[in-house]
This record gives sequence, C-alpha cells and structure tokens, in this order.
Amino acid sequence: MIIRFVGPLATKLGKEIQVKIEKEVPLREVIERVVRLYPQAEDELSDLSFYSISLNGELLKKDELEEIRVKDGDVLILIPAIAGGGRESRIKLVIKKNFDMSTSTYEDFERKYGFFGQLALKMKEKIDDEVRMILDIGCGTGVLGGVFDGPTIVGIDISPDMVRVARKRLHDVLIGDGSRLPFRDGSFDAAVFNAVIFLIPDGGNAIRESLRVVKDKGKVVGTYLVGLFENGKEVIERLGLRHRLPFPRDRVEEVVNEFEGICEKITFSVTKEFVRDFYSIPAMSNALFPKMEPEKRIELARQKLSDLPDEMDFVWGIFSISKVNFTI
Ligand SMILES: C[S@@+](CC[C@H](N)C(=O)[O-])C[C@H]1O[C@@H](n2cnc3c(N)ncnc32)[C@H](O)[C@@H]1O
Repeated sequence: MIIRFVGPLATKLGKEIQVKIEKEVPLREVIERVVRLYPQAEDELSDLSFYSISLNGELLKKDELEEIRVKDGDVLILIPAIAGGGRESRIKLVIKKNFDMSTSTYEDFERKYGFFGQLALKMKEKIDDEVRMILDIGCGTGVLGGVFDGPTIVGIDISPDMVRVARKRLHDVLIGDGSRLPFRDGSFDAAVFNAVIFLIPDGGNAIRESLRVVKDKGKVVGTYLVGLFENGKEVIERLGLRHRLPFPRDRVEEVVNEFEGICEKITFSVTKEFVRDFYSIPAMSNALFPKMEPEKRIELARQKLSDLPDEMDFVWGIFSISKVNFTI
C-alpha cells in the first residue's frame, strides 16, 4: 500500500512510501511497522488523532481509527490536524495525554467545587443573552452545558477522553486542535476558552482562529490562570515550585490587546484542600512536575503543598474581544 505525507512528516520521510502487506491488517499495525522502519518519525506517528487521515480518498472519522483495517493497494494520506511546528505539537501531545488520564479526577473536582462552572458563569455575563451558537474551545468534560441553557453549544477538544464525557452534555463535540478550527468563517455568534488558552502553545493563533469563526460583531471570551496568592504574594513560588504554562498570562494579554479586547481579574477565595485537590488532577500536577509519572507527581504535589496557608486568593483573568473593527 502507499502512504503519503503532508507537512513535517513529508520533510522527514519524503512525500510517499510503499509498505507491503500480505493480508488485511489494522491500520495501527501498519503505522507501527512504519515507526520501526523510520524511528526518526516516532514522535509524530505516536498519536494518530493528531492527523486527518484519508483512506482511498475518503476522510476517516477520528473515532473509527482504532477499528480501521487496510489492505495492499490502499492509499493512505496523513494530513497534520494539529497546528504548529515540532515543539508546539510535542507540547500539545503531552497536554492531550495528560487530559486523557484526567477525566475522572476532573469530574470529581468539579462535582465537589463547581469551580470551572463558576468561571464559565463569569464568561456568560460577557455574552449577549440572544446568542444562538457558541463554540466551546477546549470544552473538556462539557461543563458549559450546565451553565448556558439557551444556545446550541458545539465543543472541540484535543483530548478524545474528555470529548467522550462532553458528548453527554453538549450538542456536538469534535476532537481537534483549538489552533486549527474545522469551521467556516463566521459560523458562531460567540467562541469561548474556559481555562484553556494558557495550555495552547500557539495561543495567539487560537485566538485569531476563534475570531475567524465568529460572525461580525461576535464575541470571543476566555478565562486564564493568573496565580495563587496570600496577601499579594505568590504562594506556589514561595514553596519553591513553578506552575508552567505553555502560553502564560502576559502573552494572553498581549494578544487580547492586539485585538483591542479587555482583560479583567477575578478572585476566588480558596482553601488548602481545594488547592491540593486541584493539583491532584494529573493534568494540573504535570504543570508543577513535568516529565514525571502521574502517581509520583501527584504524591509529590500533595506532599509539597502540605504547607499551604488555610485560605488563599486564586486569581484568574477574563478577556473579552468583540469582532467589530477588524476582519480576520
Ligand atoms: C482545564 S480544562 C478546561 C475544560 C473546560 N473548558 C471546562 O471549563 O471545564 C482544559 C481543556 O483544554 C483542552 N485543550 C488543551 N489544549 C488544547 C488544544 N490545543 N485544542 C483544544 N483543546 C485543548 C484539554 O484537553 C482540556 O480538556
């Protein structure tokens, strides 16, 4: 069979390779063979959900990839579905894996504190009551479904496991990258990023894309992490730790300014237990201790966070951009 590559893989492996297969086999097996033949492409090929895949001219649905079988004579084309170069794609892959393993702890945390719901309520205040179609970028488990009751909400998220949960709560949910939205210009009345933008290494592109897919006069609203403070002093830093963000606060605010948007602060008073539970979500503890096994880093986070004050200010930013004075 023939496998064609587009983008970074074409640079690494050439535009086309031939793979001999004797009988019908799962697509996954063929990809594993390609990785054995071309170990330099292991990173890129380690996750097929990062590609739009066409088999004999037909685009495969992401959910079907595990079941698809291929035979000799088939033509497969791998088109990158994740935006950004090598480094950005690698960060996105790590983030995706971390959220894939976070669904149940994320759900437990949200059931206990309703925190992401509270952030979403703040975004709701910035969005016109009349909106009919909202795009929820990085929709996670679909928290927004419990906050907005009127409009149709379409979600998109990079983590297939989060998407599986969100499908129970939102109108329609796709697996995909916020920096490369598979929608036509002007498809939505508003687009939101609830606790997401700081996780997207090319966050500027994601905001630009969101502005493209909202209608003229539409809104893009998002919340982003600022930090945890006691009496105005950063608590995490005081413990000798750092919450790493691929697209930190100053870069978010820079892009929002570029589009003449507004940034404000929201402060939540939280307890020590809240913070320890927050960092017990595998994806969150990864921000403190990257490249460490999930169990180990959660244990370490709980240990290091035992000296927290009883009460702290959890400070978030909220941005809002109106698509009024410019075209994307
Ligand atoms: C902290 S959760 C917030 C989820 C949801 N917005 C909420 O309010 O509960 C961040 C979500 O962003 C998703 N995400 C991270 N990077 C993304 C990207 N590049 N494109 C789409 N989703 C992304 C993660 O998979 C995760 O589900």
